[in-house]
Amino acid sequence: MTLNQETTVKTMPTVAMIGMGYVGAVSSAALASQGCHVIGVEVQPTKLKMLQSGQSPVFEPGLQQLVSQMHASGKLDATDDLTAAVKAADIIMVAVGTPSNAQGQVNLDAINRVTDQLAMSLHFETKPRVVMIRSTVPPGTVATHIVPKLKASCPNIAVCHHPEFLREGSALKDWHQPPMIVWGSDDPSDRVAVDQAMHTLYQNVDAPHLPLASRESELMKYACNIFHAIKIDFANEIGALANALGADPAKVMHAFSQDTKLNISPAYLKPGFAFGGSCLPKDTRAMMGKAHEFGMTYH
Ligand SMILES: NC(=O)c1ccc[n+]([C@@H]2O[C@H](COP(=O)([O-])OP(=O)(O)OC[C@H]3O[C@@H](n4cnc5c(N)ncnc54)[C@H](O)[C@@H]3O)[C@@H](O)[C@H]2O)c1
Repeated sequence: MTLNQETTVKTMPTVAMIGMGYVGAVSSAALASQGCHVIGVEVQPTKLKMLQSGQSPVFEPGLQQLVSQMHASGKLDATDDLTAAVKAADIIMVAVGTPSNAQGQVNLDAINRVTDQLAMSLHFETKPRVVMIRSTVPPGTVATHIVPKLKASCPNIAVCHHPEFLREGSALKDWHQPPMIVWGSDDPSDRVAVDQAMHTLYQNVDAPHLPLASRESELMKYACNIFHAIKIDFANEIGALANALGADPAKVMHAFSQDTKLNISPAYLKPGFAFGGSCLPKDTRAMMGKAHEFGMTYH
């Protein structure tokens, strides 16, 4: 293990980042630039070697330079020794992959493995620590799979889900200017520790803090991505209709986006009744009919 033992950060915590892929590498470099001592834990030998020589394991504008700077300053280390890293840490972030399996369900193998490793590594530890699950996981994962295992091993641990909102291509900028800082935890005493940790980590980041229960936080992350997918699909459908009808798709969607009262707004986003009234069903049918005329099919 090659941790830089000389680094002493007085006011900011030591963070162990488990999984140094896209989210882990970007967040680690950004946290180090805020004064944290970050110890990245990575199992892939190629990525680990790159990190240990000050190279970024993923491509992202500005990241190589920041990783190299943080590595040289001793604020960003990397290791494959999870136990040593988490024992040295005040905050443990988990950013391992949660890909789809062949049936479309979430493969939680990496998260489950890390949870078991954490439970073993922190057994009998008395120092208070906060564990933040940054991976996107199905609602209930933190409360039913992660919290019971970790708390059984180490009662002084606070656990939360803490979704990440960065986008590939603008990830560093997104880290510094997120739309919001969300976390979800269930135990009242965990909430106090997590809240404190969030305020310390993000003291220089101007974004609303939104504490939730863990299931709400987990679902909120999926809701964001599903909504983004719906927006893209919607814009493409209107664009296709516009092209077929001889209208300019960009002008239509630009005008559409100017309405921040009903269109780009919280309007119509409260769960409850189905849509109805005199216009919404009639006008939806009208454009569905037009789409059929042009051979566009819907299911
Ligand atoms: N990529 C994005 O833009 C993005 C944005 C927001 C949220 N997320 C979510 O964040 C999570 C991570 O995504 P990613 O794109 O960074 O994944 P990734 O595959 O790029 O990185 C995951 C890393 O974890 C490592 N890893 C796996 N098991 C490990 C273990 N036991 N110990 C140490 N390291 C281990 C892998 O080797 C890999 O390098 C996912 O749940 C994803 O859905 C991703």
